[in-house]
Amino acid sequence: MSALKPIATIASQLPVSGIRRFFDIAASMQDVISLGVGEPDFVTPWQIREAAIYSLERGQTSYTSNWGLIELRREISAYLEKRYDVSYSPEDQILITVGVSEGLDIALRTILDPGDEVLVPEPCYVSYKPCVALAGGIPVAIETDASDNFAIDIERLEAKLTSRTKAILIGYPSNPTGVTMPLAILQNVVRFAEENGLYILSDEIYDRLIYEGEHTCVPSIAGAYERTILFNGFSKAYAMTGWRIGYICGPASIMSTMMKIHSYTMLCAPITGQKAALEAIKSAEPQVLDMVSQYGQRRKVMVDGFNAIGLKCHLPQGAFYAFPSVAATGLSAEEFAERLLFEQRVAVVPGTAFGAGGGAHIRCSYATSVEKIELALTRIKTFVDQLTAVSI
Ligand SMILES: Cc1ncc(COP(=O)(O)O)c(C=O)c1O
Repeated sequence: MSALKPIATIASQLPVSGIRRFFDIAASMQDVISLGVGEPDFVTPWQIREAAIYSLERGQTSYTSNWGLIELRREISAYLEKRYDVSYSPEDQILITVGVSEGLDIALRTILDPGDEVLVPEPCYVSYKPCVALAGGIPVAIETDASDNFAIDIERLEAKLTSRTKAILIGYPSNPTGVTMPLAILQNVVRFAEENGLYILSDEIYDRLIYEGEHTCVPSIAGAYERTILFNGFSKAYAMTGWRIGYICGPASIMSTMMKIHSYTMLCAPITGQKAALEAIKSAEPQVLDMVSQYGQRRKVMVDGFNAIGLKCHLPQGAFYAFPSVAATGLSAEEFAERLLFEQRVAVVPGTAFGAGGGAHIRCSYATSVEKIELALTRIKTFVDQLTAVSI
């Protein structure tokens, strides 16, 4: 009998998510306060759950159109038009996906040939680079700096441009930094993409979780629409992570190919989730606003708390993450996170999990109660004070 042949090189070389490792350790410990999670602590609003239950009661358990329920696509189209003044036809420009996660996967598989490069400003969401690699592409990190509020530097994009560069993948408000990108910079990114024939992949899953200023929907920027694939979904704003409903919008010519991949690999997003999403977009605006207001209060508690402890923390404008620097402690982000977990039972994610520029930082989610945030801050203070005492 011959030895079993090895699995695919790309798959076997994928790094294990830096977030998972800390979750696994934290899950095996007692009394841990987790600031590690990247999902709302709220339960999906009741009327959304009720709509899903009702659809089940009526026996709605079938596949839907590959594109997703037309009623849902119509609502999304109207929502984007009203909110951002961008027009997507419900018939052939909006595809309902199994979360933004599936959307990213099929969009990258649609545009990349093996060896094509994708510019990815970092620190960024942990899935971006693996998804590029799995689609046969090469993720090219573009470093950003905390001192500059993690702004995208066009010169750095230009420096990494090659004949194989095909796209730029961005996501604002950002996971993990919480920053939004000023309009002027986004306009420069669009210009850069126009000059070099690039696609723009814009993951706007945190568009509703904004505490300062207004969200800029990238395809609404002059010159962007024809080259942008927009990703969004219901996970964050409506506290619907488990329902697995997202959507992609883009030029009809690209959408038809994404739809082919989706129809072969996923067929459609789950009907119960789509029914729930339909109810969400129709009626849950008051609850979205309420959740945003609560995140806003927690953000302040957390950011003020870190700065008071001496861990410098910029004020994140969106999402639900604070990204304080631990440089002042002399520990690397990995050491800080690991020792904090074992010594004070607070789980945070080291910034290294999110790529270049995240190194001296930890990501702390404030999608948790004020009481837990305050208790975590007390523990973190004890930890930092002990470090300082030892170093003196
Ligand atoms: C920036 C970003 N994009 C996409 C996702 C995944 O979203 P979904 O639940 O829609 O797959 C996440 C989840 O944490 C995220 O933070």
